[in-house]
Amino acid sequence: MSVNPIQIEILTKIRYPKYMALLEIKKYPDPILRKKCQEVKDYNPPTTLPPSAGPSVTEEIKKLGWDMVETMVENEGIGLAAPQVGELKRIIVVHPIEERTIEEKSKIKPQVFINPKIIKKSREAIIDEEGCLSFPGLFLKIKRAKEVEIEAQNEKGEKIRIETEGLPARIFQHEIDHLDGILFIDRISFWQKLKIRKKLKQWH
Ligand code: CO
Repeated sequence: MSVNPIQIEILTKIRYPKYMALLEIKKYPDPILRKKCQEVKDYNPPTTLPPSAGPSVTEEIKKLGWDMVETMVENEGIGLAAPQVGELKRIIVVHPIEERTIEEKSKIKPQVFINPKIIKKSREAIIDEEGCLSFPGLFLKIKRAKEVEIEAQNEKGEKIRIETEGLPARIFQHEIDHLDGILFIDRISFWQKLKIRKKLKQWH
């Protein structure tokens, strides 16, 4: 997900491992954005770890997660899903900020979520503006559940559960949609779609 450039201030660089690399972001209408992603199962053999550690994530998956974080930050995004960088794996990165400010962005670290799943959604919904790094310059008002409960694995392979609301809840819903080939243009009304028809045609 991306935010309106008007709301963006320059982000102070957060330090990540040196071997990270920027990835190319697939833009709409790249057909990969419509594919369903596979669950990540390629863990290291658990025998190499103490039983309490649980399964660990392979170096390849870890690197992909970090590269996705760097790519997201570099492109001033607040969320990114693996199919957007050409990987059909159920991995998302989220910058779980409450407000779109530079202070918030430097205070909170972006995180990698593997096999994320929405297990609960509030009935209450909020309409707010969203962008997407695969649709540069397009911002749409999207209705999303106000609160969601997420189950996922972190970059260590540990099972985690998060209850979140507001902007982070929106980011999770947007990114998890990507893993099933669902894009934010699928979540708008017929009338909104008519309005952006020309813009979408330009991309085809
Ligand atoms: Co997106």
